[in-house]
Amino acid sequence: MTKATKSKNDLAVIILAAGRGTRMRSALPKVMHGLAGRPLIAWLLATVQKLKPARVIVVIAPDMDDLRAAVAPAPCAVQVKALGTGDAVKAALPALKGFKGDVLILLGDMPLISVATLKGLIKARHRERDTGLAVLGAEYNPVPAFGRLVENPDGTLARIVEHKDATAEERLITLCNTGAFCVDGAQLAKWVGRINNRNAQKEFYITDLPAIAAKDGYKTQIAVTEDLDEVQGVNSRVDLAMLEYIVQAGMRLNALEAGVTMHDPASVYFSYDTEVGRDVVIEPNVFIGPGVVIGDGVTIRSFCHIESAVIKNGCSVGPFARLRPGAELDERVHIGNFVEIKNAKLGRGVKAGHLAYIGDAIVGEGTNYSCGAITANYDGANKHKTVIGRNVMVGSNVNLIAPVTIGDGAYLAAGSTITQDVPKDKLGIARARQSNLRKPVKKREKKD
Ligand code: UD1
Ligand code: MG
Repeated sequence: MTKATKSKNDLAVIILAAGRGTRMRSALPKVMHGLAGRPLIAWLLATVQKLKPARVIVVIAPDMDDLRAAVAPAPCAVQVKALGTGDAVKAALPALKGFKGDVLILLGDMPLISVATLKGLIKARHRERDTGLAVLGAEYNPVPAFGRLVENPDGTLARIVEHKDATAEERLITLCNTGAFCVDGAQLAKWVGRINNRNAQKEFYITDLPAIAAKDGYKTQIAVTEDLDEVQGVNSRVDLAMLEYIVQAGMRLNALEAGVTMHDPASVYFSYDTEVGRDVVIEPNVFIGPGVVIGDGVTIRSFCHIESAVIKNGCSVGPFARLRPGAELDERVHIGNFVEIKNAKLGRGVKAGHLAYIGDAIVGEGTNYSCGAITANYDGANKHKTVIGRNVMVGSNVNLIAPVTIGDGAYLAAGSTITQDVPKDKLGIARARQSNLRKPVKKREKKD
């Protein structure tokens, strides 16, 4: 058996996410709130998957169907009433029946915890033969209303006391429980069964586990993390904004180091999965949503909003452009101000310089799409496709009533409403002929 397969079978993860998240003041479960383009819970799941666990169980409340869907295929266990973190773990136990490996227990609202820290926690749980569990601690100054880690003289953990239950003296302890545990799976069910709710909050605390393990002759180790950002939890929108700040700062730094020029990095927003090439310039005030890939030598000018779009090498976009999902710009495409593109593929060198809409379309290489031209892609019930060939000249203020196909090299006269296909190399013109008539004589002019 290889080492990788062994660790795969030896680890299970429980993620606690059944809490109400009252302080978010939201109809959405707390862990469904977004951070740089994906829900908090997805950040944690992505990290956990890197440990290749045999099982991941997410503990949710009964009415959290959207959360259940978001974490699929990971199974959920339902905690019927939020009676505390200890009770939440209990809800996950049936899904762990017979599992004897390490069980990582994580809080769903702590999205930035790193793989290295989790590995350190798992390692701490194997520090000695009689180690029953390990807890991830951190030093705080000032100390929040967290559980305090009460150490034995040998540096192992005697017990955790929750802030609300702590004496004045215990509250002086600065080493706190971050909320992450690694427990011997062979003992977990037995120990959880012994948690009671005789405490200040009348809750079943997972933090009772170290003292319970100690009674059975097991030791508890503490793994300490120095990085407070990665164990920062989200309890309010203020916390969420702080985490967004941390994540954005990291992504901006990565982009700068990877060869992206930003005049004002703090005004550029990335998403967790943004890919940016080299020698890219991003001017101030640009928002990049999920699913965006930007090639080399691209310039994104100020005030662009870009989501689920591919921008290949040498393109220039904006200022004030909007690329919506499914926009694909081949090399050296130029998109100017007030242009919106949705679900459309633009071939090499296409130019759409001003005030245009291209939706549900294919535009061939070298085509010029002039000011004010639009695809009328929606008939009120269905969306239809516009296909424009190569080297087409779409004149100003052309309406392309989809479905419609324009052949290579065609010209569309400015102001035309094109309802029929235009063959290759033809001039499509569909507008009323101009008449210059005699000016009607106005009454006042007559008097004069
Ligand atoms: C918990 C710890 C505390 C630690 C702190 C760090 C306990 C008793 N206390 O306190 O020692 O310092 O985290 O942030 O564990 N949850 C459920 N079901 C419940 C209650 C909670 O699933 O019945 C989930 C919540 O969704 C949340 C997590 O558990 O993701 C933590 O719960 P929370 O009530 O925020 O714990 P704290 O009071 O912050
Ligand atoms: Mg609480």
